[in-house]
Amino acid sequence: MQLREPPLITYNSIQKRVQELAFQISSEISSDNLQVIIVLKGAMFFASDLLKSLPPVSSVDFFKVCSYRGNSSSGEIEVQYLPTDNISGKKVLLIEDILDTGKTTSFILNWLCTQGPQMIRLCVLLKKIKSQTVTHINADYVGFEVEDRFVVGYGMDFNNMYRNLKDIYVLEFD
Ligand code: IMP
Ligand code: MG
Repeated sequence: MQLREPPLITYNSIQKRVQELAFQISSEISSDNLQVIIVLKGAMFFASDLLKSLPPVSSVDFFKVCSYRGNSSSGEIEVQYLPTDNISGKKVLLIEDILDTGKTTSFILNWLCTQGPQMIRLCVLLKKIKSQTVTHINADYVGFEVEDRFVVGYGMDFNNMYRNLKDIYVLEFD
């Protein structure tokens, strides 16, 4: 198992794209009454950079799920933390790391919908280009579309490793 050099996406290009996304988001959604929900742990770096470039939002909360074992989705979604902020009647911006099969995001969106938000917008750092679509989730804001390979770094992990890398790499398996 090794990181493929050079990085797939460098920290500098991530920062540039984050600025563009923040500009787009703030021109389309007013930040008053805006509830941000960050999906842990993968989206933590992305969300923290993005939030620093958004105007003050009303609240930030988290959703923690686990669906991956190693480099493949287990298919089962284990909820480890649910947001405690009341999102009823609020505008919600959900921040995710990767839209892969979309199962996790679809599960989270369904749960959020049951809480009666006024609207939900989805922002993902990466969207994997799949030959076959598994779920039909439309992200409102996408950082980068990437090939369908396993990636790590900038918050994303393989069995909890590599999360703290600055850049995003493809992880190659022997
Ligand atoms: P999905 O349910 O298949 O869309 O996968 C969703 C979650 O699996 C993402 O939010 C990530 O946390 C994780 N995941 C999917 N692909 C990768 C990857 O290439 N690297 C690291 N984590 C991944
Ligand atoms: Mg995730």
